[in-house]
Amino acid sequence: MDLTPKTPQELGLDPAVIDETRDFLQPFEKLIPITVVDEVMYVPENNSLWRGLQFCGVVKNKIAIDFSYFCIAGTCKHCRALVQLPGMAQREPMLMCQTIAQPGTLIRKLPQGFRKK
Ligand code: FES
Repeated sequence: MDLTPKTPQELGLDPAVIDETRDFLQPFEKLIPITVVDEVMYVPENNSLWRGLQFCGVVKNKIAIDFSYFCIAGTCKHCRALVQLPGMAQREPMLMCQTIAQPGTLIRKLPQGFRKK
């Protein structure tokens, strides 16, 4: 997989839609590739995997999220998923709302509350 970060422009994303996502994201310039259940998706750098999936839902309509199910603050633990960060030998359970996305991150299975479209 090409792990080079790309700008939203380079990926042909609509600037108006990207601007909408800035309300719920930490500032970012580039998008980084991660693999979500066998599909490569680009998510904003400097942001959690949870927010990255939210971004994919808004920008690409790839993920649906049941917002009522999540705290997005590290307490409910509902976002725990098997994740393999670059350099890790194997996947481990991690809270996606507390884990910053890195290029090449693998999410093997999405927890309840997320639906891949
Ligand atoms: S969403 Fe509640 S711990 Fe991550």
